[in-house]
Amino acid sequence: MRGTRYGPGVLTRFASVSDPIPVAGGGLLSRRALLKGAMVMGAGAALPATAADEHLGAAMAWQKTPGRPPTGYGNPSRFESAVTRTTYHRYGAIALGNGGSFTPLERLRGTITPNGLHFERHHQGVPDIDPAKHRLVVHGLVRRPLRFSIDALGRYPMTSTTAFIECAGNSFPNTNDKPPQVTCGEIHGLVSCSEWTGVPLAMLLEEAGVRADAKWIVAEGADAVSMHRSIPIEKVRDDALVALYQNGERLRPEQGYPVRLLLPGWEGNMSVKWLHRLELVTAPVQARDETSHYTDALPDGRALQFTFEMGVKSVITQPSPGWMLQGPGYYDISGLAWSGAGHVARVDVSADGGRTWAPAELMETAQPFAFTRFRLPWRWDGGPVRLMSRAMDEREQIQPTRAEWMQRYGAKQRYHYHAIQTWQVDDMGEVSNAY
Ligand code: MTE
Ligand code: CO
Repeated sequence: MRGTRYGPGVLTRFASVSDPIPVAGGGLLSRRALLKGAMVMGAGAALPATAADEHLGAAMAWQKTPGRPPTGYGNPSRFESAVTRTTYHRYGAIALGNGGSFTPLERLRGTITPNGLHFERHHQGVPDIDPAKHRLVVHGLVRRPLRFSIDALGRYPMTSTTAFIECAGNSFPNTNDKPPQVTCGEIHGLVSCSEWTGVPLAMLLEEAGVRADAKWIVAEGADAVSMHRSIPIEKVRDDALVALYQNGERLRPEQGYPVRLLLPGWEGNMSVKWLHRLELVTAPVQARDETSHYTDALPDGRALQFTFEMGVKSVITQPSPGWMLQGPGYYDISGLAWSGAGHVARVDVSADGGRTWAPAELMETAQPFAFTRFRLPWRWDGGPVRLMSRAMDEREQIQPTRAEWMQRYGAKQRYHYHAIQTWQVDDMGEVSNAY
């Protein structure tokens, strides 16, 4: 993985910094320090003013002829064609529909994942559902079984919530014996964050009249595996959303068009896509995905069932593998943090392999159950360093080290990995995955 084979590019280096107060080892600076005068492409100096003059004097090629006309649906610039998801297939050609794709976290900024880059996980492909024929049925332990068309759902009052969805299998490559040398997104990109809009499930259940003996609800999708999960009724009453829109537009087919369930903070598998059936029951139905899959292998050989809430987690996205540092100097470390418990309360960053830590600046508009962006200025002295981030959530849960996490589980455990990520920076400014 050496070099910039797939790399997003070089990380911007800053020429100077006001108030460069060291706050921890390895060159970490106060989050209030202001980075000044970005230097680009390792030229070793800020761009000379003459470059700007040239630009002002002669018109560029694209200023000499009219641009192209408006279009019905927009696409990213052709210069961004390398910003794509990385796809994978669990069983190759025998079941092409069983697979997924990773969000390229290292290429994105802000906290909202563009719809075309939302990660995917399909157990048997993306069904091509005609919304006019699709129905959502609520039945089982209810006084009035109900059947909703998509049009009918669209007439209910809707709410919006910004939430991440994270696959329970996210970051599984880091359970390998050796650190895989792939991108940040190819390790941690089975998580994305969107603004979801739809009808609170509690509202539909109220209309159906839930019977007192109903303690769980089975949500089933209309895909070729009829993927289904049992969900405790309390979560449904709390914040379950029957989502129709994703970042303002209708759900993408990959995300469950025309309707999916959203359970903020809980493992992605339970946010059933292509939702067509909700059955009120007294006890969990022991579905495939809550027995043989998505359980946690314990050291004594037993398996722990129903780990719903996703653990507190963070990762530095810039720099990360593929990004190049351009020599010693000032850089802005940036990353994402999230927690199934709600708000991210704090993120600490270390530049000396975890010996010392400094609190990063968190974005002010962070929502519970959504991505929180963090940043911290850093002066790299040009030597090898180990960068880490460690998040704490509103319940004061702290991200474990990899060793702590591995110790908690059996050897075969692949789900719910949320340990601290270490990025190794070598003396050439190349970044790699390290344990
Ligand atoms: N729902 C159905 N019907 N079929 C599926 O294969 N995959 C689940 C869940 N809902 C799945 C599903 C898994 S494992 C995850 S992690 C999330 O959807 C992924 O959602 P996304 O593809 O929109 O990112
Ligand atoms: Co999943």
